Amino acid sequence: MGPEGKIAVVTGAGSGIGRASAEALAKAGARILASDIDYESARQTVSAIETAGGKAFALQADVSEPDDVKRMIDAAVSRFGGLDILHNNAGILSGPRFPDSDPSCWRRAISVNIMGVLSGIHYGTEAMRQRGCGVIINTASISGLEPHFTDPVYAATKAAVVNLTRSLTFLKEEANIRVNCVCPGFVRTDLEAHSSAVLDAEAQRRFKSRRAGFKDLPALEPDDIAQAVMKLIHEDGLNGKACIVNPGEPWQIQ
Ligand SMILES: NC(=O)c1ccc[n+]([C@@H]2O[C@H](COP(=O)([O-])OP(=O)(O)OC[C@H]3O[C@@H](n4cnc5c(N)ncnc54)[C@H](O)[C@@H]3O)[C@@H](O)[C@H]2O)c1
Repeated sequence: MGPEGKIAVVTGAGSGIGRASAEALAKAGARILASDIDYESARQTVSAIETAGGKAFALQADVSEPDDVKRMIDAAVSRFGGLDILHNNAGILSGPRFPDSDPSCWRRAISVNIMGVLSGIHYGTEAMRQRGCGVIINTASISGLEPHFTDPVYAATKAAVVNLTRSLTFLKEEANIRVNCVCPGFVRTDLEAHSSAVLDAEAQRRFKSRRAGFKDLPALEPDDIAQAVMKLIHEDGLNGKACIVNPGEPWQIQ
């Protein structure tokens, strides 16, 4: 499916990968609902899209709240007339390291990273069934495919997203809806800053030291992930796949 003339919702669109994805989709001719828990950041994404000649509007929604996700999908349908593309991208780190961390930290990460994707797919497929087709991209992580000793709970949530994606291939047959995910390695974004409410000083030190380990690798930028998202949208044969994007390596589709 080419994005031209299509209607797309992107969560976590105010920053990093979500902003790059929203901008790439708009550039390819899609109309965008840019959603974020932080309305002002989503509005800035919309402003950049409009300056470049695209069409978009901003909406505040916390993906951990199913009612917010329903409101977001309903807004795309009422504003633009339907939903063709959904990028479930919003996500956070879990914070202090499991198993010592507080249950509130795991609950928040699970609510945003797993519940957010489940709700997006639940309400998104409802809207896509009305159109007779659709494409869903979930942002997982390389941490969903290999251990992440700095944040095991984050790794568990991303593994859930990968296997959820792989378990939904039946939607293609049933409703002409394809579901794929991207699994980025380390990308230069503000993920740690946006997760800082849950990152105590010790967690910040651990993440900083992990980041230092990447300093000699070529950096991944949000646009690199947006390009992988575009490929997963374009290629009709891709369904239930994880696209691994690592610095300095060709994409692997598994
Ligand atoms: N940066 C990386 O190295 C990396 C690697 C692999 C996967 N990821 C994943 O990419 C996705 C995007 O992260 P990013 O790196 O662009 O970080 P980012 O912090 O720059 O962007 C995430 C956006 O999500 C928003 N957000 C956070 N909680 C939300 C919620 N409950 N509801 C709605 N919006 C919410 C934030 O406000 C922010 O705008 C996340 O799912 C993250 O886990 C990031």
